Amino acid sequence: MGKIKLEQKAAGPLPILGFYPTIMIGVDVDGKPDFTTVAWTGVAASIPPSITIALQHHRHSLKGVRQHMAFSVNIPSSDQVKETDYCGLASGARIDKVADCRFKVFYGKLKYVPFIEQCPINHGCEVVQILNLGSHELIVGRIVESFISEECLTEGRPDPAKVNPFMFAGFGYYTVGRHLGNAFSCGIDINPKAKLDTLEELKRMSEKPEA
Ligand SMILES: Cc1cc2nc3c(=O)[nH]c(=O)nc-3n(C[C@H](O)[C@H](O)[C@H](O)COP(=O)(O)O)c2cc1C
Repeated sequence: MGKIKLEQKAAGPLPILGFYPTIMIGVDVDGKPDFTTVAWTGVAASIPPSITIALQHHRHSLKGVRQHMAFSVNIPSSDQVKETDYCGLASGARIDKVADCRFKVFYGKLKYVPFIEQCPINHGCEVVQILNLGSHELIVGRIVESFISEECLTEGRPDPAKVNPFMFAGFGYYTVGRHLGNAFSCGIDINPKAKLDTLEELKRMSEKPEA
């Protein structure tokens, strides 16, 4: 199998994963809500529930993160792909993205953390750490409350098909696609000995609220 080195001229290897869940973070900057698209994000811990976002230093939204040490994570559905793109190309320093996108904004227990009602999943986060990594600041947020739209539940659990999220890859947006196999299950065929490890992992997960 041939391999070719992936490099960027200025800084060597490329930090690409190839596809990214895409969110809109919400902040309050100087008393106004601002929403910004972020693809460099990830779940970092389940207990306490923690999430990271990476923002470039000059982002207007970073100003809001620093002002209140809090932000929201809003997970859009495929119906909001245009709004998500818009919040990733317009700056809150010049443009009122809330008005342009007709976002219905609501607040939870964090006073300065705006949420987008149209997005099926929302998390309110307090900042626990900001790490300067060079081009980006890595912000670690502790989730203090989460919301899901009622219509995205099936038997009381979040239903991915109803949330209908999308990914950012290359320079496009893609729906998540078809179901390929059951998690913690379809890989067992490779070596059935792994079943014991899986059972232990599933037991640990059932003792905790999230994996
Ligand atoms: C799909 C997509 C993903 C993006 N991901 C990030 C990101 O992870 N970090 C970042 O700093 N900017 C990212 N951006 C760029 C910002 O969203 C964009 O510069 C935005 O206009 C900043 O708004 P603000 O000035 O109101 O903060 C992304 C843009 C798009 C379209």
